[in-house]
Order: sequence, then structure tokens, then C-alpha cells
Amino acid sequence: MRSVDDLIAEGVSGRRVLLRADLNVPLDKKTGAITDDGRIRASLPTLQALREAGARVVVAAHLGRPKGTPDPQFSLAPVAARLGELLGTTVPLAADVAGEDAREKAAALGDGDVLLLENVRFEAAETSKDDAERGALADRLAALADVYVDDAFGAVHRAHASVFDVAERIPHSAGRLVARELEVLTRLTTEPERPYVVVLGGSKVSDKLAVIEALLPKVDRLLVGGGMCFTFLAAQGHGVGKSLLEVDQVETCRRLLAEAGDRIVLPVDVVCTPEFSADAPTTTVPVDAIPDDQMGLDVGPRTVELFGTTLGDARTVFWNGPMGVFELAPFQAGTRGVAQAVSAVDGLSVVGGGDSAAAVRALGLDESAYGHISTGGGASLEYLEGRDLPGLAVLAD
Ligand code: 3PG
Repeated sequence: MRSVDDLIAEGVSGRRVLLRADLNVPLDKKTGAITDDGRIRASLPTLQALREAGARVVVAAHLGRPKGTPDPQFSLAPVAARLGELLGTTVPLAADVAGEDAREKAAALGDGDVLLLENVRFEAAETSKDDAERGALADRLAALADVYVDDAFGAVHRAHASVFDVAERIPHSAGRLVARELEVLTRLTTEPERPYVVVLGGSKVSDKLAVIEALLPKVDRLLVGGGMCFTFLAAQGHGVGKSLLEVDQVETCRRLLAEAGDRIVLPVDVVCTPEFSADAPTTTVPVDAIPDDQMGLDVGPRTVELFGTTLGDARTVFWNGPMGVFELAPFQAGTRGVAQAVSAVDGLSVVGGGDSAAAVRALGLDESAYGHISTGGGASLEYLEGRDLPGLAVLAD
């Protein structure tokens, strides 16, 4: 895989570079303000290197999941503003993805300048299953630049026009973020130092089953928290009240427990409440005493202790998914406790993107205490599953 540093070494001054970045940041629902700019900051090393080398950088990115048509609530305008602040320059935003305005603005770039294209998902072709439709958009994107650099690690598992098809059209290389993510994730898949412990949380067990199946033969311990733990607890025969439960996955969880129950560690207590609210009363109960009319929204303190002890001698840890509804104050202690235990690991600790990375920052924890905070939630899980990621495969061509 060619790297952006190979490209820079070959000379990129005055050349137009189409840089795919993952700038898919969470926005405050009411104000539209960026609530976590981690992904924007993670894109800076490649951007800065290209600017310093005199490249004219056209950045393509997506935000959220608009329905293939322009939609102001998914505009990249706040991202352009934040990117400009962080780079100490003005980052204009094209009014379209790869239309007339994008072409004009890209043509007007000077050496070291940066242009952000509007949300690539404003074009239905970006995510289309039809090769020709995606190809037509990729042609227009490729026409904006001489070379393509993919630094959007969080999107490499998507066979989208701006991630996959465009790389087939112009010379391509991987950005520094993609290189760093791969370097760390490879350490998890290639003879990790043991004990190797994986902590999984998040709401849906169905989203994580593939990675659980792939990881179980490789890990020494798998700790399960978050909303998904209730399907496992139900598989053990516990009543879970009104907690999140995927009835159709109970049988699979039962099989996993039968096959690898010695390695799967489940919560022993949970924080319950009658309603999904920050003001409702809470009670902490053992997992075999969840009241019928209550839902578990966090793991309890005995679980944090148990998970902490299990993580105590780990030499390699991968953590993906919050332990509870950390956005609501009464249900954040589980995620905080596990995040702290992961950061204290003497060895390699990797936080796997998405909500868990956001949780580390939202809870004010020290990011530098972790070996690596991935920018890719789905992408890092699919990588660990051992799946072929289209955005990486095309770069390796
Ligand atoms: C992410 O948020 O995981 C990436 O930006 C990919 O977004 P997507 O799941 O909407 O494709």
C-alpha cells in the first residue's frame, strides 16, 4: 500500500489531491454544534503534511446518513468552520459534492489551500449498490484532482463511491491515520501479547455477534456489558424486566455461552430504573433480581470491580461500546469505571472508535492514557472480524 508520505516524497507541490477523510462527527441535536471533534483532529496530520508540501487539497467527507439528497441538517458547514479553526486558515465549503461549484472552487485553490466538498451523501450515487451509478460520481470526484489519498479509516468498510470507486480511477495512497490504525489493529490480530482481553458493550448484540464469533477463539477473556448484556443474561435464564432484549438472539447467546462460557464474563449487577430518564429513581440489583417493571441502563459497581480485576493482568485490551447510557449522568459510572480500568492496563490498550471514543472524551478522561483511540467503530470491528474492507483492498491494488 502506497502511503501519503511516498506521494509527498515524489513531490506534490501544486498538484490537486482528493483527500477522503472521516469527518463524521456528532452534532448537538438542538444547536447543531459539534459535540466531539475527535475525528476532525485525527485528520489533521495528513492534511497538514499535504499542505506543507504545497498540495492543493480537496477534502471529501460524509456526515450522518442523509437520504441521498441535500439536507441542511447534514451540511458539513460546521465541520468546515472547525477544520479552519484547527488549521488556522479558512476552509471554504463547496455548495455541492462534485458539481459546478466544487469544480470552480477546486480550480481556484492555491498551493497549501484546502477546500471541503459538501457532504458526499447528498448524492444518492455515493452509497448506491449500482456500480455504474457510483462510477459516474467517482468520475466527477476524480476529475477534481490528480491523485487520491484515503485517510477515512472510519469509512474503509464501505464500498462507496468516494471510498472505493474513486481510488480505481486515479493514483491512490493511504493517509497517515489509516496507516496508524492499521499498525495498531494488526498488533491485535497478529499474536497479541497475553492475556488478551476484549470488552464489548453497546446496545445491540446482533451488531456484535460476528465479531464475538471471530474473537472468541482468539481472546483469553471477553467482557460483555452495555445493552447487549441483557440478551446474554436472558440466555442464562435471568429475567431482564424492561431492559433491552433481542429475543431472536437468545439462542445464539446460549450457544456461545455453552461453547465459550469459561471465557465470557457477564455483569453481576446492574443499575435499574423504571424509565429512560436522568431524573427517574435508580436501584442497583444483582442480575438475578432485575424487577419486571424496570430496565437496566448501566452495569453496577460490583461488575466494574469484576471487570477491573479481569483487566488487571491483561497485556492487550480492545474495548468497543459503552457499558451503559453514559450520556445520562446516573448511568455513566459503569462506562467510566471500565474506561479507567482499560487505561490502567500495562500493555496495549485500544479503544475501538464510535461511542466508546466519544465516551472517553465526554467523560473528561485522559486520552493519552490509551495506547490508541481508533476513529473507526464499525471499521475496526470488521477489521477484527477478518473481513475484507473494500476501502483498504482498493488501496492495496
Ligand atoms: C462511522 O461513523 O462509523 C463512520 O463515519 C461510517 O459511517 P456510516 O456507518 O454511516 O457509514
